[in-house]
Amino acid sequence: MRFILFTGKGGVGKTTVAAATAINSAEKGHKTLLISTDPAHSLSDAFNQKLAPEPELIKENLWCMEFDVYYSMKKYWSNMRELIYSVFRFKGVKNVIAEELSVLPGMEEGAAFLWLEKFYQEKQFDVIVIDSAPTGETLTLLSLPQAIKSWFTKAFPGQKFAIKTVGKIVRKTTGVPLDKGYDEMQTLFDKLEVIQKVFLDPKMTSIRIVCNPERMVIQEAKRAFSYLQLYGYNVDALIINRIYPSEGQIFFKDYLRNQRLYIQEIEEDFQPVPIFKAFHQGVEVFGIDRISQIKNELYNNEDASQVFYKDEALKIKEIKDGYAVKLKIPFIKEYEFSLKKFGDELVIDINNQRKSLFLPNFANYMKLSHYEYSEPWLIIELVKE
Ligand SMILES: Nc1ncnc2c1ncn2[C@@H]1O[C@H](COP(=O)(O)OP(=O)(O)OP(=O)(O)O)[C@@H](O)[C@H]1O
Ligand SMILES: [Mg+2]
Repeated sequence: MRFILFTGKGGVGKTTVAAATAINSAEKGHKTLLISTDPAHSLSDAFNQKLAPEPELIKENLWCMEFDVYYSMKKYWSNMRELIYSVFRFKGVKNVIAEELSVLPGMEEGAAFLWLEKFYQEKQFDVIVIDSAPTGETLTLLSLPQAIKSWFTKAFPGQKFAIKTVGKIVRKTTGVPLDKGYDEMQTLFDKLEVIQKVFLDPKMTSIRIVCNPERMVIQEAKRAFSYLQLYGYNVDALIINRIYPSEGQIFFKDYLRNQRLYIQEIEEDFQPVPIFKAFHQGVEVFGIDRISQIKNELYNNEDASQVFYKDEALKIKEIKDGYAVKLKIPFIKEYEFSLKKFGDELVIDINNQRKSLFLPNFANYMKLSHYEYSEPWLIIELVKE
C-alpha cells in the first residue's frame, strides 16, 4: 500500500498534480483514492464535478473524496476535541498550553489522520494520493502526532508516556471524569501512532513537493524540504509545474531566461531527488482530459505510484563514550536553529517550526555534549553523563 502526499506553496498546482498522479495510478491498475485535506473543496473544482466527503468512484480504479472536517468530526470524532481540552484544563498544565499552543493550532487536522488510518486498516485501496493545503498547514498536519506526544511528555515530566498513566493522574488531580473518554483517547493515540509509523516508512509514504520556476516558490520548496527531512519524511520527487514553453516568445524573453536559470538551480540544489516537469498548458486545467495531459508530461508511461527515491535522513554512529547522531536538514543556516535535549527527546527549533525528535532509549542516560551544522548535516554528539 502506498501513500503519496503533495505539498508546496499556495497555487503552484498541488491539486492538479495530485489529480494527475491519481489518474496515472488508476490507469496502471491500482485501486486509487484521491483525497483532499484542503478545506477549499479544490478537487471538485479540478474535476469539475461535486465530490462527496466519503470515497466515491469516478472512473475505473479511481475514487475521490473531499475531506470535510465538520462532517468527519460529527460522524467519527465528536468527543475527542472536548476531551483533549479537558485534559489540559486542569492546574499545572496551563503554562505548557500557553507555550505549546502555537505548535498545535487546531485538533481538526487530526481528523484527516483518522481517515487515513481507517483506509490503512481496511486495505480497500492500493494507493492513496493526498492533496493537501499549502505548505504550512501540511507541516502542521504532519507534525501533529509528534507534537501531541511532546505535549504529554512535558505536561507530565518523569512519567513514561502512556495514556493510562495520564488518565489516572488527571482523575486524581482534577476530578475530571475521563472515564467516558478514556478508551476513546487511547484509541486516538494508537491511531495517531499507527499512521505516523506509516508516514515515516519510506517504502509506504512519499512526499512530493510541487513548485513553479519562480524565486519565492523555490525558496518555499527548499524550506519545505528541510522541514520534511527534519520530521523524518521521505521526499521522493520534486515537481516543477507551469513551465512556459520557450519558442518564439519575445515579450517573455527575460522571464524565460530567468526561468531557465531557476530550473537549473532547482536541478542542482535538489539532486539527487528526481525532478518531474509539466508545461504551462496555456489554459486553466480542469476536467479529466486536461489533467491527463499533465499526467502524460509528468510521468510519461511510468507508474507514478512507485517510490522514485529513498534517502536516509538520520544516521547514528558510535563514538568514544557515546553516539553521534546525524540528521540531514538541507537549506538552513547555522544560526537559524537552536537545540535542547530533555531525556530522550531532542527539541529543535528552526525559525517558527519546532520539532521533537525522540531518540533511541539510550539517549536518556546521555548528555548533549556538542552540536554543529555542516550543510546538509546537523551533527549531535551525546556522551555518557
Ligand atoms: N500546468 C498548468 N498549466 C496551466 N494551468 C495550470 C497548470 N497547473 C495548474 N494550473 C492552474 O493553476 C491554478 C492553481 O492550480 P491548483 O489548484 O492545482 O494549485 P494548488 O497548489 O492546489 O492551489 P492551492 O494552494 O490553492 O490548493 C488552477 O486554476 C489550475 O487550473
Ligand atoms: Mg489545491
